[in-house]
Amino acid sequence: MTSGMEWYPAAAMRKPSETATAFSSCPDRSGTGSEKWDRWTGRDVLPVWVADMDFRTAPEVLEALHARVEHGVFGYTHEPPGFRPALVGHLAARHGWQVDPDWIVGVPGVVTALAITARLLSDRNDAILTFTPVYPPFLTLPALAGRGCARVPLAHDAGGWRIDWDAFERAARSPAARLLWLCHPHNPTGTVWGHADLEHIADVAERHGLTVVSDEIWSDLVLDDGPHVPFASLDHPAARRAITLVAPSKTWNLAGLSCAAAIVPDGTIRRRWRIAGEGLVPMVNPLGYAAAEAAWRHGEAWRRELLTILRKHRSLVLERVASIPGLECTPWQATYLAWIDCRATSRENPQADCEAAGIGPSDGRDFGLPGFIRVNTACPTERLVLALDRLSAAFAQR
Ligand SMILES: Cc1ncc(COP(=O)(O)O)c(C=O)c1O
Repeated sequence: MTSGMEWYPAAAMRKPSETATAFSSCPDRSGTGSEKWDRWTGRDVLPVWVADMDFRTAPEVLEALHARVEHGVFGYTHEPPGFRPALVGHLAARHGWQVDPDWIVGVPGVVTALAITARLLSDRNDAILTFTPVYPPFLTLPALAGRGCARVPLAHDAGGWRIDWDAFERAARSPAARLLWLCHPHNPTGTVWGHADLEHIADVAERHGLTVVSDEIWSDLVLDDGPHVPFASLDHPAARRAITLVAPSKTWNLAGLSCAAAIVPDGTIRRRWRIAGEGLVPMVNPLGYAAAEAAWRHGEAWRRELLTILRKHRSLVLERVASIPGLECTPWQATYLAWIDCRATSRENPQADCEAAGIGPSDGRDFGLPGFIRVNTACPTERLVLALDRLSAAFAQR
């Protein structure tokens, strides 16, 4: 594995001081059709729910977008020549994973790609396994495709969130089990699955003929030094069959530009993939391609600065949560999401109590675990502190 820096051009490695203020303020998003900010329009509720950041994207990405807009022609666009090499270079430099450019398929979103895998790799009434709590579409997409969703609850102890191997084995043994949708790193708990976990998952998958689809959209936001090991990079037969989904959207705040990639080593599945989406799944748009390529190629310095802020925000949240009786939060290893256990407060509806106090998190019920809330920490520090003040107020003794 390289140090991660050699691949990125020297020009991209700006000094931290040059962007020190980039994360202390952010544009007003009202009137821009922001899903996050429009949810509580007209009410004084700070939105800390859906996973996008309030920060402007990296200057290098904006520059590439300006250049593409300046070109002025936005006709039907397939992958520009720099897209695959940019992703290949990024995966090698960042995660020590060498992929063949031919394996890469551009897709307009990771959720779309998950939906394609359901239709492509399983039949009606087959079951898709997933570890819960989890990002809501993992729970809702299977039914939309006429597939079952087999929830395998994660276990939680002092060491954090971990896989209940017996429960996983039982679910995998079911004759209906066909696919595992792995969320790696895991949303909402922020768990980074380690090498031993991944090997164990691969063994179970191999024993029971499961195909693993690994959603690695959060893999560039591992906050601590530990590496992210792509599931498909294991030397294991189950890894060689796996499909990996990646995107620059979480890390560089590009979700509205609809650009992601599926890494599909099997040529037959790749051909069938394109057929499965035909007439339904649009091409990736030219601005999405331009932004993704610039992020992967030139976004490393900005990403590192972002991680510094996100680590600071994690400390702030953990400190505050520890001061509120009944709340508990396991330190997250990746993402910018705090998964907060409110069950010991005995509040019937923690989400409603938060909204009444002026903070709008995501409701744990949507992730399959009532009694929890998820707080998005990717906003200027001042705004996060205000949100935390409101969190304290929400759970103040009545
Ligand atoms: C695990 C996970 N997968 C996928 C997505 C969404 O991906 P996309 O916007 O590319 O559909 C999210 C967004 O939060 C996510 O957390």
